[in-house]
Amino acid sequence: MNNPLIQSIEKRRTQYALGTALPISEQETTALIEAAIRLAPSSFNSQSSRAVILYGDESREFWSIAEAALRKIVPAEAFAPTKTKIDSFAAGAGTVLFYEDQDVVKGLQEKFALYADNFPVWSEQASGMAQFAVWTALSDADVGASLQHYNPLVDAEVAARWNIPASWKLRAQMPFGSNEKPFGEKAFMDDAARFKVFGTTSAAEARVAA
Ligand SMILES: Cc1cc2nc3c(=O)[nH]c(=O)nc-3n(C[C@H](O)[C@H](O)[C@H](O)COP(=O)(O)O)c2cc1C
Repeated sequence: MNNPLIQSIEKRRTQYALGTALPISEQETTALIEAAIRLAPSSFNSQSSRAVILYGDESREFWSIAEAALRKIVPAEAFAPTKTKIDSFAAGAGTVLFYEDQDVVKGLQEKFALYADNFPVWSEQASGMAQFAVWTALSDADVGASLQHYNPLVDAEVAARWNIPASWKLRAQMPFGSNEKPFGEKAFMDDAARFKVFGTTSAAEARVAA
């Protein structure tokens, strides 16, 4: 489709083969990550998403914390694939840690009691939007990344190491770096099983509009 945003969305892929040779500077990378999170929507514009951006040794330290935590729960004889995976994340240039500030969620629950049950859900959705925005912005700049979930296993140690506020809840980790391998093919399910469009003058027009 000849639409620059859709093209950027299409370009975003999971990259496990990461290297340290970022195609843009660390400063530009940080600016992209911050802008993507700043501009991502949140319920009631509550801006509950937080991020910690780790480069170089700090990023590698995060992954060694994850490795040590995993060693405690994965049997030693089965650890090799886990180690390979963790090493591939540590091989990148950096890692974004995505948090949601639970104080913001609690504040909203108190202020808008009618929606109290929704705010934790909307916070998760806002986090997903922030993650997607960052991932897409990075891949648009030819920075490879993947999305990982070693929370809550690593939470306490990470909080102590990087002085994370107690109200910040870790939701996802995004290792990023240079793309060291091409992306594989991606299969898509049948659109007809996925989308329903009503009220347009013809199905052909509905497809074009999309
Ligand atoms: C909510 C969510 C959770 C995911 N969790 C993981 C994960 O824990 N580890 C991982 O390697 N990939 C994870 N992924 C990445 C998906 O596996 C990947 O996006 C999907 O297979 C499509 O491939 P693509 O990213 O190349 O388009 C996650 C993606 C989403 C949206």
